[in-house]
Amino acid sequence: MHSKLLFITLLIITLTGAIHSTDKPSDQALPTGPGFDPAKVLGPVECIECHKHSGGVWEQTPHHESITGVHRSKEGQEIAKAMNIKRITRESLCIDCHGTAQRSGEKTTLSSNGISCESCHGAAADWMKRHGEFSGKEEGEETTEEIAARWKESEAAGMLRPSMILEIARNCVSCHVVPHEDLVNTGGHSSGSDFELVSWSQGIVRHNNFYSKGKDNKVASIEKRRLFHIIGIMAEMEIVLQAVSTANGKGDYAVKNAKRFIALRKKLDAVNKAIDNPQIKEAMEAIANLKMSLKKQDAMAIAAKQITASVVAFAVLNDGSSLEGVDPLLAKDTDYRGAKPGTQ
Ligand code: HEC
Ligand code: HEC
Ligand code: HEC
Ligand code: HEC
Repeated sequence: MHSKLLFITLLIITLTGAIHSTDKPSDQALPTGPGFDPAKVLGPVECIECHKHSGGVWEQTPHHESITGVHRSKEGQEIAKAMNIKRITRESLCIDCHGTAQRSGEKTTLSSNGISCESCHGAAADWMKRHGEFSGKEEGEETTEEIAARWKESEAAGMLRPSMILEIARNCVSCHVVPHEDLVNTGGHSSGSDFELVSWSQGIVRHNNFYSKGKDNKVASIEKRRLFHIIGIMAEMEIVLQAVSTANGKGDYAVKNAKRFIALRKKLDAVNKAIDNPQIKEAMEAIANLKMSLKKQDAMAIAAKQITASVVAFAVLNDGSSLEGVDPLLAKDTDYRGAKPGTQ
């Protein structure tokens, strides 16, 4: 127990240290998009070689043609004009979230027409070979230790795996919240999606069809959906609070993100009432009386750090099995985003 607590404490210190941009409001832009190194992106063709069923789903999603779609749309052209951008498909600000950049040598290109595998699973140059080879043996012949070592090395090399729920949640909201004040206030870009991790991950984007060799595409387990819901709310809160706490003025950006925070706080409050969990309680205490006023930006930055500490501890300590209290709050299959009716 002692070493587990120590581990969590260290993790919290590391992670809260990483959001120092909230120390002083407005002195540094927040990152947009996942921010993986384009020099390490291999492109979806490589993945689909072994993961054709994942590819088959991905090709049907709005992620697949995002950057070319934006480039062709009237709305995209208007945003670009307002932002003084000539070519959307060359502009890193747009590519950050609507595409997956790839670099070889001096040349940066798009890895596809949209947001590809590695924007969600991590740039793969350092892990692709290792994760999918069975430690030099035949499939099924590795020892338990060899399997564990293979995954550990892949994660250390930057792979985002389906079991890494907090990292996945943070990754989705790095695009689905739009933490860029000029883009929203001057560009007229949407301030982000009406996101919720269960409904947004289990509809059109769901591709749990690799291990079943394409036979089925099951909804994530109930334990995982509980974690998706709770961790998703907190991951979104972290970044929304950072957005409001660094806003320079009272435009759409500050106002919409403040409203979004209030909606998220309601959702977390419902979770807090539904389960008796110390990390959720601690998180709620930190934000219960938080005022969404630009005069309170320092308090928001502090609250964002507390949310980070709580969600990191929550993710380490919970496997979802004892959180059945939240089941009535989870999205129903009919709410899964973009899914075709009858395919659940
Ligand atoms: C040479 C074949 C091969 C290639 C190429 C490949 N994979 Fe895999 N991948 C596998 C195999 C095999 C597994 C399952 C390993 C196992 O059963 O332990 C896997 C598993 C996965 C998983 C699930 C991990 C988990 O925790 O269960 C993800 C996600 C994944 N691959 C993503 C990718 C991405 C993204 C790419 C492209 C950058 C890629 N793979 C390229 C063979 C490959
Ligand atoms: C690299 C940025 C990025 C990441 C990472 C990302 N998305 Fe998206 N997503 C977008 C953009 C941009 C759109 C809008 C696409 C368009 O219309 O051009 C979108 C669209 C969607 C849609 C379709 C919404 C609709 O209106 O039907 C779903 C569902 C979705 N994303 C879920 C997710 C989930 C779940 C994750 C994490 C597992 C995720 N996204 C990660 C950028 C991203
Ligand atoms: C921080 C991430 C982020 C950045 C940066 C970003 N977008 Fe978006 N964009 C999104 C998301 C997420 C959506 C989907 C919003 C929703 O769900 O309603 C979107 C939607 C759009 C849409 C409407 C939907 C569509 O696909 O036609 C347009 C147009 C658009 N973005 C253009 C741009 C342009 C142009 C740039 C660069 C100047 C840009 N975006 C930069 C995340 C981003
Ligand atoms: C929008 C983000 C996103 C994109 C794009 C994406 N994935 Fe995933 N992937 C996820 C998430 C999230 C999960 C876990 C979902 C769950 O547990 O319900 C997952 C699960 C997987 C799995 C495990 C499937 C299983 O049977 O359990 C594999 C393999 C995989 N992805 C490969 C890929 C490949 C290859 C691509 C590109 C063709 C890709 N993914 C594109 C987010 C994404």
